[in-house]
Amino acid sequence: LGSGQGVGPFATVSLASVRLGFEEKVYAHFATAQAALPFLSPTGSLTFVSAVSAQAAVPGTAGIGAANAAVAALVPILAVELKPMRVNGVSPGVIDTPWWDGMPEPQKQAMFKDFAARTPVGRVGRPEDVAQAIAFLIADDFMTGQTLICDGGLRFTA
Ligand SMILES: NC(=O)c1ccc[n+]([C@@H]2O[C@H](COP(=O)([O-])OP(=O)(O)OC[C@H]3O[C@@H](n4cnc5c(N)ncnc54)[C@H](OP(=O)(O)O)[C@@H]3O)[C@@H](O)[C@H]2O)c1
Repeated sequence: LGSGQGVGPFATVSLASVRLGFEEKVYAHFATAQAALPFLSPTGSLTFVSAVSAQAAVPGTAGIGAANAAVAALVPILAVELKPMRVNGVSPGVIDTPWWDGMPEPQKQAMFKDFAARTPVGRVGRPEDVAQAIAFLIADDFMTGQTLICDGGLRFTA
């Protein structure tokens, strides 16, 4: 859930794009969780997917960063409101998934190379990196209200 809408310099990014970014990220997570609620075990767990644009201060990401911060903001509120269900989130960095496929392949590969060079662990993420973080949050029944940043350290250097 979520697209690349809401990306662009603050001075010029269109409000339509920012609105669509919220629609496709925040409302999609909100609506999916709300629709799933009657089918979830009261002692089960929900895990939202935010993004590191909520934590890294990267120019041009005000719109998408605000949408991802909104998803992260749901986490502690719902952890209390829906207790004893546990509610957590992950905040991925740059992950090699089809999310980036809108970009021409050579441009995408150059961007991954650049991010890998700037990321403390020296590579971009794989889907299984985020899956492991989600699996940890599901498995540890003392974890709730927490958004785990899974970015290889990118937020400090982006
Ligand atoms: N990849 C990254 O670098 C990165 C970084 C930070 C955060 N994230 C977040 O990680 C999450 C997963 O993204 P991804 O990288 O795995 O992207 P992805 O490969 O493009 O997968 C997105 C998935 O979400 C589904 N989807 C999109 N809009 C939906 C909607 N309105 N209702 C139901 N399903 C919808 C898509 O279904 P269809 O295939 O049927 O369209 C697809 O299965 C997103 O929230 C994204 O913002 C990704």
